[in-house]
Amino acid sequence: MKLKAFIDVSVISVILCMIAVLRADDVTHPRHVHIAYGDEPHKMIVTWSTINYTDSNVNYGLSRDALNMVQGGSSSKFVDGGTAKRSQFIHKVDLVDLKPNTTYYYRVGSLEAKIWSSVFYFRSMPDGQDWGPSIVAYGDLGSANAQSLPRLLVDAAQGMYDAVVHVGDFAYDLSKNQGLVGDTFMQQIEPLAATLPYMTCNGNHENYYNFSNYKARFNMPNDNKRMYYSFNVGPIHFVSMSTEFMYFPNYGMKQIFDHYEFVKNDLIEANKPENRAKRPWIVTFGHRPMYCSNSDNDDCASYESLVRVGVPLYGIKGFEDLFHEQGVDVALWAHEHTYERMWPVYKLEVRNGSYEKPYTNPGAVTHIVTGTAGCIERHEYFTKNPPPWSAFHSSEYGYTRMKFANKTHLFVEQVSDDRDGMVIDRFTLVKDSHGPYKK
Ligand SMILES: [Fe+2]
Repeated sequence: MKLKAFIDVSVISVILCMIAVLRADDVTHPRHVHIAYGDEPHKMIVTWSTINYTDSNVNYGLSRDALNMVQGGSSSKFVDGGTAKRSQFIHKVDLVDLKPNTTYYYRVGSLEAKIWSSVFYFRSMPDGQDWGPSIVAYGDLGSANAQSLPRLLVDAAQGMYDAVVHVGDFAYDLSKNQGLVGDTFMQQIEPLAATLPYMTCNGNHENYYNFSNYKARFNMPNDNKRMYYSFNVGPIHFVSMSTEFMYFPNYGMKQIFDHYEFVKNDLIEANKPENRAKRPWIVTFGHRPMYCSNSDNDDCASYESLVRVGVPLYGIKGFEDLFHEQGVDVALWAHEHTYERMWPVYKLEVRNGSYEKPYTNPGAVTHIVTGTAGCIERHEYFTKNPPPWSAFHSSEYGYTRMKFANKTHLFVEQVSDDRDGMVIDRFTLVKDSHGPYKK
């Protein structure tokens, strides 16, 4: 009897210990692993989350079986703004001095507790500008109805892309249900974002608690949590914008002006002849479009959208003149749950290169709206009489592929997930020279 009681107690103790270990492991186990390009080509930023505090380390190497390097980093405690005040630790490690164009295998976690994630891999950026990046771009990807995500994973597994550009609106929403929807979303994108640099800008759905979930969960190069930054990928200079400052002035007016000054100075620098010679392509991405022809009365459907013209009465400048003067090649937008390709346009005037070849040496910026990755808010539609600068539009879910073939040719195609990956639109932007457009 005593022996049986001892065995029972022992079994129960073992089970309780196992539960304790499992719980400890659960709250210290890395999750939401994702990467981003650094502020120079030989760097990669690795970010992940744990519920409890752990040390922050990346264990990496050139083969899955030889993770023989370790790089430490830091973490910061993030407390969601909801009533439950759920907290988690967001870890950041910068991998530096990476060999160019090399596949690295890595896992993230704790050296002290010896708790590690699965092993992931990424390819570091090739050196120089003489290579052709393949970028996939989309906005408005939710946790529920993330329709394009499986196809994006298949594409990525085939090595189709070098990086992802997510043009705002995540999860619907990162902060919803005490941040649990954000947690689920970050886990959903992990297979994609742990392998490809996942470059972001904020959207209106990130606005809750002053964008705190977005700021905490993503680490971008040169950002310093301002929510605007720029980075270079081969022959491309990307500028990530925060259009939302204009639409949420309750979070402060100063950042509207600071943001404009940053974008202006950044574009002026990128457009200097010596820089443009190295990196001729300038691509901006921001959430709310200057132009769209949707039927939902959003700001971009008005002729004087905030992003395009600003609010002159209050000294708030729009971005159209700046983009035109600094010769931005492509402006990517989202927010509308649709795809729309504009003719090259300036101040509502179509500036095609020629009748036969509208995108060869155009006279203005080419705008693309790609907000159709899939989310709980479903499809959106278009006005029956689109304006003359609207070249092609679709309400089908999907995403946009951009292949920068060289310094003069950019191939763009729109994939429809609704039609099993069919390409429903494609065009080639040809720029024999890059620079300011004529007034
Ligand atoms: Fe949006």
